[in-house]
Parts: sequence; structure tokens; C-alpha cells
Amino acid sequence: MQVIAFNGSPRKGGNTQTLLAEAVRGAREQGAEVTVYDVNWMNIKPCQNCGNCDNEPKCVILDDMQTIHQDIRSADRIIVASPIFFYGLSSQMKAVIDRCQAFWAEKYVRNKPIPAGAHGRKGLLLLVGGMKKDEKNPGFHCSEVTAKAFFRTLNVQEHQTLGYGSVDEKGAVLKHPTALTDAYEAGKELVAVSTKSQISNLK
Ligand SMILES: Cc1cc2nc3c(=O)[nH]c(=O)nc-3n(C[C@H](O)[C@H](O)[C@H](O)COP(=O)(O)O)c2cc1C
Repeated sequence: MQVIAFNGSPRKGGNTQTLLAEAVRGAREQGAEVTVYDVNWMNIKPCQNCGNCDNEPKCVILDDMQTIHQDIRSADRIIVASPIFFYGLSSQMKAVIDRCQAFWAEKYVRNKPIPAGAHGRKGLLLLVGGMKKDEKNPGFHCSEVTAKAFFRTLNVQEHQTLGYGSVDEKGAVLKHPTALTDAYEAGKELVAVSTKSQISNLK
């Protein structure tokens, strides 16, 4: 089982990275192969809306997204982890998402979604924000809808979301009563192959 995971935070050893590490640990313990992209330190330019990918399944910008595009095609599971910045995903994470417009055109214009593969395609969204998580705070909702559009564009038909508010200073997530365990369990669950799909793979 191939898993790719995006760390959208620029803070080394921050809350996003800590939470993601637990999910990755859970997935690896189940035998999954996990590649983590620390996107803040990669060469990823913003989408230029050049329109080239309307006609061919390729982005013309030759940077680190070329590798990510290939890995997205072969991944069985995709993890997006991001801090909430100004009520949305970090700009680092959003740049990756926008550069997946080529997959949007492939799926919704040319009707060629990424094949589901042997294990189907599933996702996990991990969010942390400094503000309280309540009905007056749109940050979790805004991030969720963007991530959902991303996942569905990549033909990830289902995903789980874990979001933690009041997690602000570096290391705050370590003090949360359940966040790390939740993420670890979610990582395990993400790559668990159900008996049903094991049987159908044998057919
Ligand atoms: C530019 C910026 C904007 C932020 N905007 C929000 C916000 O809109 N809502 C929120 O809950 N927290 C906001 N925060 C706080 C971060 O989400 C919080 O500190 C988080 O724990 C950072 O995660 P990290 O340690 O993984 O980088 C913001 C922080 C920064 C630096």
C-alpha cells in the first residue's frame, strides 16, 4: 500500500508535523510505504492558469510538482496535514492543490479519473488551528471544503478529517488529550484493508 503525505506547515517540529508523524507511524506499522513531502522546502510554483492542462494531462511548469504528480497517480492513500492560516489551508499546501488542476481537467473535462487501483483511494485530513474550534470559527470548514475538492479531484472518494483548535504555540498539540492517539489510530485505519476488499481482490 502506497501512501503519500503532505506536511503543509513551515514550522519545523510544529503541531502539524507532530500530528502527521503519528499518522505516518500508524500507517507504517501496518506495513504501508509512506512518502512525506515537506512542501515548504520544495520548489513548487503557484499555478499560472496557462490552460495547457485543459488539453493534455501534464503541467508545463517543471519543478518538484512533476514528481508529486507521478506519485499521486500511484498512491493508494493520501494524507493532507496543514495548519489553518487565515481561515484556510496554508499557502504552501494550497499551492500543491492548485497545481493539481491537471487532474481536475483529466477527471471533469476529459472524463478520465485516476484509476482506483487495487485498494481503492482514501484520504486523511489533519488540521490544527490556534483559535477555538466552534461555530463562530470558519477555519475548519473552509479548509475542509478545499481539501474535499482536492481529494475528489484525485479520485479519493472518501476521507476522514481530524481537526484540533486551541492548538497554537509550538508543541501545543503534545498537550492535547487525544490528538496524537487519534492521529496514530487514523493512520492505522487509513491503510487497513477490509476483509471485503481482500476477498474481492482474490476474485
Ligand atoms: C499566518 C498565520 C495565520 C493564522 N491564521 C489562523 C486562523 O485563521 N485560525 C486559527 O485557528 N489559527 C491561525 N493561526 C495559528 C496556527 O494555525 C497555529 O499556530 C498552528 O498551531 C500552527 O501549526 P504548526 O505549528 O504546524 O505550524 C495562524 C498562524 C499564522 C502564522
